[in-house]
Amino acid sequence: MALQRKVDPRIELGDARLDGGEFDGWAQADTEKKKDTMTQLKVAVIPGDGIGPEITEAAVAVMQAAADKFNLELSHDSSPAAAAAVDQGLPPLPDKTLKLCQDADAILCGPFGDPRWDNAPPAERPERAKLILRKTFDLYANLRPVKPVPALIDASPLKRELIDGTDILIVRELTGGLYFSEPRGYGEDDAGRFGHNTLRYHTWEVERIGRIAFDAAMQRKKRVHSADKANALESMQLWRETMIKLHDTDYAEIDLKHVFVDNCCMQLVSDPKQFDVIVAGNMFGDILSDVGAQLTGSLGMLPSASLGKGTPLFEPVHGSAPDIAGQGKANPLAMILTVGMLFTHAAKRPDIGEAIDNAVAKALQKSRTQDIARGSGFEIVGCKQMGEAVLAEL
Ligand code: IPM
Ligand code: MG
Repeated sequence: MALQRKVDPRIELGDARLDGGEFDGWAQADTEKKKDTMTQLKVAVIPGDGIGPEITEAAVAVMQAAADKFNLELSHDSSPAAAAAVDQGLPPLPDKTLKLCQDADAILCGPFGDPRWDNAPPAERPERAKLILRKTFDLYANLRPVKPVPALIDASPLKRELIDGTDILIVRELTGGLYFSEPRGYGEDDAGRFGHNTLRYHTWEVERIGRIAFDAAMQRKKRVHSADKANALESMQLWRETMIKLHDTDYAEIDLKHVFVDNCCMQLVSDPKQFDVIVAGNMFGDILSDVGAQLTGSLGMLPSASLGKGTPLFEPVHGSAPDIAGQGKANPLAMILTVGMLFTHAAKRPDIGEAIDNAVAKALQKSRTQDIARGSGFEIVGCKQMGEAVLAEL
């Protein structure tokens, strides 16, 4: 089939939208202003590409079972985005999918990405739909917890004594920085053709993500590492100054440390237990969270929540794994744990989130997908059976 290359006009989301510090997009009422505890929950489901549909099916079954068990009235509807949409002749983020998300309390989103677009420019790639969703709803705070499940400690590439007890929350800024700043694009000068991007952070952007990190740390071990690159980049010098100011004015009781992002990667693999909350810009947070994810034994284990002004979005940290798509052997656990975060943050039902986390931990004692099958004493199962194992423990 011929590859369609349509550029979605909504892709052009540069700094213009951020002027004055207020986002005037299509965002709904503040996520924070929603009711404290919900008895009804409407979820927009976007299965995504590659292994997306199979892990989403397993996760939606767990979501429904958990809602039934805890008497939460759940309704969910799904609509395509990314390559799955383009293959139907639609733009990467079809209007009907966007509308579904706008009308929902939460978005459950699978991984986006398809190797058929590997050589396409960023603005034409299907995964751009994810960036548009994040920007549209101003989901500036991406929470990526890195906490290995006890049964998987031996699946970690790190020695047991290094990883055991690790409990990190990576707070990634998600709507600014290198991903969104203007100018960007391609050009040509005397030296030839070039591609360029801009790394810009306004003080208010650093402040609002800094607050999320400090507030999270207040509920945890009161330790924040701010990862930057202040030794080389002006934007990161401002990042650091802003973090210090915010800390000294409003969060003096937090132990704030600054760490260069390259050093932070190294520290993550050599001594992960020193970290409590790590806060970083968009690009650095993307990289740090993949490093963190692998510490837990598999990239297939890490959930994430993206919160901000509009409908919150929940997605696994991993990609669409096209090499194993459709074979029934994908690990659905990151997606299932993502459902747990959805209950915790969107429905304000941490009890349900915890029940899902516990069911996953128990299921892993008996069943594992191949990516986390280090050790013995369990059966190696496929995606569907792994989901059923979690259901059985719920
Ligand atoms: C992630 C992914 C995305 C990102 C890609 C798919 C655009 O790597 O969510 O970590 O870079 O944010
Ligand atoms: Mg990533």
